[in-house]
Amino acid sequence: MNKAKVEHTSASAPFTAYSRYYDLLYQDKDYPAEAAYIHDVLQRHGVKHGDLLEFGSGTGKHGRLLSLLGYRVHGIERSREMVSQALQTEGFTCEAGDICSVRLARTFDAVLSLFHVVSYQVTNAAATAVFARAAEHLEAGGLFVFDIWYSPAVYHSRPEVRVKRMANASVEVLRIAEPIVYPNEDRVDVAYNVFVTDLVTKSVETVTEVHGMRHFSLPELDLLGAMNGFERIGAEAFLTGAAPSEETWGVCVVMRKI
Ligand SMILES: C[S@@+](CC[C@H](N)C(=O)[O-])C[C@H]1O[C@@H](n2cnc3c(N)ncnc32)[C@H](O)[C@@H]1O
Repeated sequence: MNKAKVEHTSASAPFTAYSRYYDLLYQDKDYPAEAAYIHDVLQRHGVKHGDLLEFGSGTGKHGRLLSLLGYRVHGIERSREMVSQALQTEGFTCEAGDICSVRLARTFDAVLSLFHVVSYQVTNAAATAVFARAAEHLEAGGLFVFDIWYSPAVYHSRPEVRVKRMANASVEVLRIAEPIVYPNEDRVDVAYNVFVTDLVTKSVETVTEVHGMRHFSLPELDLLGAMNGFERIGAEAFLTGAAPSEETWGVCVVMRKI
């Protein structure tokens, strides 16, 4: 007999309740390999060390790893829950803020935005604002490095329902992700239903969040870049470096401030 009982249900804004289980849900994500890849991308484009501004720094995984590779990283993150979880160290700091409006009155060697943060900017106004804020925090020659959902792959592969199950010593987390496609807005709303079972009491908490995701084509990004003083100097499959194709869901883009 199933003894599970639903104790608490919440529908919340993106990265509020969900953020409590973020690191567990992504414990299979290879952050060290990703940090090494970003280090390589930066080096290939002339940034070998220095100060990085990370847009949407989440729980600080990339930032801390990049600090171990010799950078000083400062993160801006909208979710206060994520900021409170982020372990700040000498080389990595972060603060709560919105990357559409942040103004730190200083510049960095590069601005990073990793794991689809730019795709969370679903409107033209928000996407343009992020590019403008990136430009304001760079000198001429500085880099804006980010990854996005790539339109050709989204059209080709079509988003589908996905189920993910992860566990630690105290909870099991089951996440169902259901996409709703808005083809005229280049947007996919991903409805996350997360069922969290306490392994001792067997009580179940459910968390519901809808994450709106924008996908981009390269000409569209070039236009956004040009409007904000950038030229694109790279675009490749995230991690592998292959040429972007219909199979490439996540594309890493490198823009240089003119
Ligand atoms: C998929 S998570 C990636 C987090 C982190 N970069 C990582 O790789 O684990 C997307 C993050 O972007 C943040 N985000 C989205 N839009 C934002 C905005 N306008 N300002 C600040 N943070 C934002 C979310 O709160 C969330 O933490």
